[in-house]
Parts: sequence; C-alpha cells; structure tokens
Amino acid sequence: MKSKRARRIGCLVASLMVLGLVVTACTPDAAQLIISPQLGSQLTALESGNEIVAAAAVEAPKLSELAPEQIVAGLPDDVAAALDAADPANGEQISLARGCIGCHALDPNVTMTGPTWYHVGDTAVSRVPGESPALYLYHSIVNPGSFVAPNYPNNIMPANYGEQLSVQELADLIDYLLQQNAANAS
Ligand code: HEC
Repeated sequence: MKSKRARRIGCLVASLMVLGLVVTACTPDAAQLIISPQLGSQLTALESGNEIVAAAAVEAPKLSELAPEQIVAGLPDDVAAALDAADPANGEQISLARGCIGCHALDPNVTMTGPTWYHVGDTAVSRVPGESPALYLYHSIVNPGSFVAPNYPNNIMPANYGEQLSVQELADLIDYLLQQNAANAS
C-alpha cells in the first residue's frame, strides 16, 4: 500500500519535470529571429542598420572643410609666419633632396616604410584630436615619436630634421604636404 503511493508520487514528479522541460523549450527567445514570412526584410533591415553605423564611424572631416585659422592653429609663431610665405614647390624639392620619398609615396598603392602621403593633408586633420593639421605635420617632422602612425614602426623616421632644416624649409614642406588633399586635384 505504502510503496504504491510512493510510486504514484514519483510518477507525478517525473511528469511535472517533463512538462517543465517542454514549456522551457517552447518559450520563444525574444532576441532570436524566428523563421517567419518577414525574415527576409528583418535581415535586410539589420544589414542596412550595420552599414549606417560603419559609414558614420569612418567619416572624418576633410582639410577643405576647415577655416584657414583652423588649419594652422597652435603653430609656433615663426613657423606660422613662414607658412604664410611658404613655397610648396620648394617643399617638394626638399622632400626629394632629404630622402623623405625613400620612405613615403604619393601613390596610395605603393607600400613603403612610412605611411603614404596620398591625401596626407586630410589625414592630418584627425590624426591627433585637438591638433590642427599644420601643427600635426610640424610635430610629425620635427618630433616623429610624438605620435606614431598606427601600424607603422616608431624610431625609423630620422628625428633630427628639426635641426637640419630651417624654419622656412619646414614650412615649405608642411605647405606641400597640406596640398595633398582630396579637394586639391593632383
Ligand atoms: C627612413 C624612413 C623615413 C624617412 C626618410 C622619412 N620618414 Fe616620415 N615617417 C616614417 C615612418 C616609419 C612614419 C610612421 C611612424 C611615425 O608616425 O613616426 C613616418 C611618419 C611621417 C608623417 C606622419 C604621416 C601620417 O600619416 O600620420 C609625416 C608627415 C612624415 N613622416 C613626414 C616626413 C618628411 C617630411 C620627411 C623628410 C623630411 C620624412 N618623413 C622622412 C619614415 C620615414
């Protein structure tokens, strides 16, 4: 009599457990996409949502969007004055004579030791937050270790150009590099 009752309770407990499992398994997960007639459009919406996020993340301001004083902000006075009277063609000559082009190429498809100079005027706008593009280029030349371009080695670019070049030569180089931007068809 007693064992029959125990068996009945055991049976009941087992059935409740099975029922519990079934209920858990069938509860829809809100985070999961269920197979439905709308699945196609749901996936499309997700994809285009991702595209919008990615596009927003890579959008950086261009040099042509800045006012002249924003381009040169923060430069030491003598460099700013020299930049006013700069000769970018002479800057190009210096880049040849000083061997810059041994490590930097204007062609974005040519891999060299240093980062490309293709549109480097635009790149310089957002390399270091709070640093104007002319100031960034000035620092890059006289003190290459102050900011190391991502994915490039430190201590490879000669660190003594600031001593070798006159202020006017530095300004000519900066002007030449600023001219490498998307709005300046070259
Ligand atoms: C021996 C190779 C070498 C030479 C020569 C060289 N550089 Fe560089 N340069 C580099 C490397 C490597 C980097 C990246 C690491 C860094 O940011 O310091 C760099 C970075 C730069 C940057 C920053 C670019 C960016 O995308 O942020 C500028 C500007 C620059 N160099 C200008 C010059 C100028 C101007 C000269 C010549 C007067 C010159 N370099 C000579 C190797 C070189």
